[in-house]
Amino acid sequence: MRKSVFILFVFLLPIIIVNSCKKDEPIVVPPASSLTPVQLEYPSYFPQMTLNPDNPLTVEGIALGRFLYYDTILSNDGRRCGNCHHQAEGFSSYAANSLAHINLGWGNHFLWNGLVEGDVETAMKFEVEQFFHTDLVRLSNSAFYQPKFIQVFGTAQVTSKEVSYALAQYVRSIISCNSKFDRYKRYEENLTLSELNGMTIFYTEKGDCFHCHTPGLFTDESFHNNGIDSLFVGVNAGRYNVTGNSADLGKFKSPTLRNIELTAPYMHDGRFQTLEQVVDHYNSGVHVTPTVDPIMTKPAKLYGLLLSTQEKADLVAFLKTLTDTVSTHQEQFSDPF
Ligand code: HEC
Ligand code: HEC
Repeated sequence: MRKSVFILFVFLLPIIIVNSCKKDEPIVVPPASSLTPVQLEYPSYFPQMTLNPDNPLTVEGIALGRFLYYDTILSNDGRRCGNCHHQAEGFSSYAANSLAHINLGWGNHFLWNGLVEGDVETAMKFEVEQFFHTDLVRLSNSAFYQPKFIQVFGTAQVTSKEVSYALAQYVRSIISCNSKFDRYKRYEENLTLSELNGMTIFYTEKGDCFHCHTPGLFTDESFHNNGIDSLFVGVNAGRYNVTGNSADLGKFKSPTLRNIELTAPYMHDGRFQTLEQVVDHYNSGVHVTPTVDPIMTKPAKLYGLLLSTQEKADLVAFLKTLTDTVSTHQEQFSDPF
């Protein structure tokens, strides 16, 4: 009995001391309307994310954006962002050839042809105004959203700015950095021999993928013609449709390869169904045109990449290490309704 009292005393003492220290600190009662700031976390091998100083990230702002993302109230015809950007499919869609909403906080060119330039806030404004034509009066009058907009942005008169800011906060928070590749980078898991070999192909002149799909985000945020066409009409003209510059014919934004296993079909028009078909394209299907990227036609590649069957399989195995099933299931990104 005595022994247990002694133990209790010994173990409780430090706690009491710690607690008693706290007594001297001023007691801060947060005002009811205060917002909780959020500091995003991402690996050191990611570039620094440029934040919008006018739109500081908060728990409440991200939560509001998440509601809006999954709500048909934004459109006037039953659509919602989450319909074509499915969490389980890496925020892309097997049906529509939508671009994945992961790590968009680093983006500065949006859509396949880069029509929208600026930060995520700008991209969201485009979606709200030009794509969904959101009825802002209906949103302002919503009993569900009004208090939320007042809390986060201090206004009941919702404009497309507040809507896009809230969406942007949520989208900025969707960070994918928990693939097998990331665990390998953190020394938590090994890659198989095949995956390692595929990584070498990816990272060296042998495959040359890293120039445009630059790790850790696996995109260089730039535009290239990767040789999938020899004729450039309609959407296939790509960046040319935005700039009108013939040097941009057939150029598209290098998409991220993170979660690529989940985002078939591939390319801006979904012409390839499998990663094997994509690798075959780079290996031996490149169309040489005046705007094709010089990387595609280096002298050593006169006859394609010359990868063996095993090497092609290794490259695909490496691409599959970029699948992040944590972000595809994370509760904080899921449909809140
Ligand atoms: C009907 C399907 C559909 C819906 C609904 C939809 N999107 Fe998309 N989204 C797409 C497609 C398809 C693309 C690629 C289009 C392109 O680049 O021309 C895309 C691309 C994007 C991009 C560009 C991503 C990048 O990497 O460049 C952003 C940002 C985006 N959508 C945001 C949204 C938001 C926000 C909503 C809701 C307000 C939304 N989308 C609703 C299909 C959809
Ligand atoms: C010169 C730049 C460049 C190089 C080098 C390059 N890519 Fe690409 N990649 C692109 C562009 C641009 C696209 C989108 C093209 C389009 O949609 O028409 C793309 C698309 C893809 C896609 C489909 C992505 C999606 O979301 O649909 C995959 C997969 C891919 N590349 C893998 C690779 C691999 C593997 C290599 C190395 C063998 C490689 N890329 C080398 C620029 C490049």
